[in-house]
Amino acid sequence: MQTVEIMEQTFDSESNDIALYLAMSRKAEEEGHHEIASYLLNVAVDEAQHAAAFAALLGKIKDTRTNLVNMLANEVKAEKDKWKASKIASTEGNEEASQFFEKSMQDERKHKDGLRRVLSKLGKGLKQQ
Ligand SMILES: [Fe+2]
Ligand SMILES: [Fe+2]
Repeated sequence: MQTVEIMEQTFDSESNDIALYLAMSRKAEEEGHHEIASYLLNVAVDEAQHAAAFAALLGKIKDTRTNLVNMLANEVKAEKDKWKASKIASTEGNEEASQFFEKSMQDERKHKDGLRRVLSKLGKGLKQQ
């Protein structure tokens, strides 16, 4: 297998692990296992560092303006996708999923608005590249 292909798979699996460790950390906290929760949170951060390093090695990280523009497009799509998913889940009677899709849609909207604000500040404050 080509190294780049392995790095892409590793990036995906590290990214997946971040979410799993975070969710498991929350669960351990709920169950009152505070030390285990804290340990799992640290592992999640390690996995995030691994994923970030592979993202950079794979050329996914550009100059800041390009990064912001790319992620803005991502957030615009995420907001739309979450809205559609919320409707589908509701139609299928999965209210819990529908509500969380809606809540995360609002977060994606905040991310979108925040990225727009940062991009506009970058346009005023710094030399464009
Ligand atoms: Fe890892
Ligand atoms: Fe987001």
